[in-house]
Amino acid sequence: MSNAGPNGPKEFEGKITIYVVICGVIAATGGLMFGYDIGISGGVTSMDDFLEEFFPGVYARKHKAKEDNYCKYDNQGLQLFTSSLYLAALVSSFVASKLCTKHGRRLTMQAASVFFLAGVVLNAAARNIAMLIIGRILLGVGVGFANQAVPLFLSEIAPVRIRGALNILFQLDVTIGIFVANIVNYLVSNIHPWGWRLALGLAGVPATMLCLGSFVIAETPTSLIEREQLIEGLAMLKKIRGTGNVDAEHQEILHACEMARQVKQPFRNLMKRSSRPQLVIAIAMQVFQQFTGINAIMFYAPVLFQTIGFKNDASLLSAVITGIVNVLSTVVSVVLVDKVGRRFLLLEACGQMLITQVAIGGLLFVNLRATNELQHGVAIWVVVLVCLFVSSFAWSWGPLGWLIPSETFPLATRTAGYAFAVSSNMVFTFVIAQAFLSMMCHLRAGIFFFFAAWIVVMGLFVIFLLPETKNVPIDEMTEKVWKKHWFWKRFMDEEEEERR
Ligand code: BGC
Repeated sequence: MSNAGPNGPKEFEGKITIYVVICGVIAATGGLMFGYDIGISGGVTSMDDFLEEFFPGVYARKHKAKEDNYCKYDNQGLQLFTSSLYLAALVSSFVASKLCTKHGRRLTMQAASVFFLAGVVLNAAARNIAMLIIGRILLGVGVGFANQAVPLFLSEIAPVRIRGALNILFQLDVTIGIFVANIVNYLVSNIHPWGWRLALGLAGVPATMLCLGSFVIAETPTSLIEREQLIEGLAMLKKIRGTGNVDAEHQEILHACEMARQVKQPFRNLMKRSSRPQLVIAIAMQVFQQFTGINAIMFYAPVLFQTIGFKNDASLLSAVITGIVNVLSTVVSVVLVDKVGRRFLLLEACGQMLITQVAIGGLLFVNLRATNELQHGVAIWVVVLVCLFVSSFAWSWGPLGWLIPSETFPLATRTAGYAFAVSSNMVFTFVIAQAFLSMMCHLRAGIFFFFAAWIVVMGLFVIFLLPETKNVPIDEMTEKVWKKHWFWKRFMDEEEEERR
């Protein structure tokens, strides 16, 4: 793990206390909520009982023998069910960034779980599309709040030497959430006619865990001190570090808060030329993360597997398999990211994703016509290729899409910059969720070549424009990375000239 803390690779005294680990594990359940949502919507939207009740048109089309394979599920309302959540999360992440600063990380997490629970109740009890969509919007507000507060919280409570590991704990919980949702989809699909209600209702479990857990966890010392609760902040720091000797770290937090206070307009600061490199990298990492095509698979795997001719059970089971591959491969990233570096993982994954996307596209292009079914052998190959694709995403663009934006900004613009990263992720998750089924209907197997083309672009981006940040202390990033980079250094030079 990297030893880089917000102010360098210093080792402060202090143990990895049980309390800090418990706080980390509890907070990361925010990732479970996000992941469960990602995994559940595809399963539910492929269930007949659900379609019959809310989308009878799609249901009828799905069962028409002559209906075009690639277009069975092309329905704006159905896509809106999945995507409305991300639109709400996009807007709410900016509100959450303010709430986090003014009222703390813990309260933001509590608010997240309450919104989320309200959404769960509406969804599980839904009688019409309006209840479904409003429920999804409330879930989205919960996700927007949690995704802003949880990674911040994890970074702030983590002892410097396990900061990287704790950060990826969030993504690990996202993948566990997706996996659990895949299993639930599989188990409830044979409970008629209300299995889908159970699937949507069980989203209440991680939200309740976060809600109750948030009464156990600490507020971060940084947040307390930032909000002028100096005595409580110091006491909390001693408690989570398990030692009275926290002077060095305390000084550093005081200094960081002081610097942050001087920047009255973090968002305006972010627009300066000298912030351009970090901002471009943070946004590009998130946009590219989504244009790998991962969510075409995460949201719509059951639908996709049905498209290629699997029966209901087989397609849900295949989604369970991709789910477990996703979790295990994320663990690979935890172990390797600080050893082999970010660029290596990203580039290796580009190669693996390019080959698998082209192979899936090629297989479908040759074998899947509008109304036939894939031969069993070919369909199995598609599942294997999807697993290889998911695994490479899971040790690269998945966690690093969140990690890199969190480590490239200087302190003064870090939280504002991170809010941009979260919201760009949500915008493009929305775009993919809303457009994928229509794109598949129009581009047919070509959809996979579309994503393959993006993978080439992002590979070139990494080669030429993404600097390695492994083992570089966060606050030495400007000196050691940006000022030395063949392209980005010009932005730094000009900033210095302006200052002179
Ligand atoms: C992405 C999600 C994706 C998930 C898959 C996350 O990092 O932001 O959009 O569904 O990884 O594991």
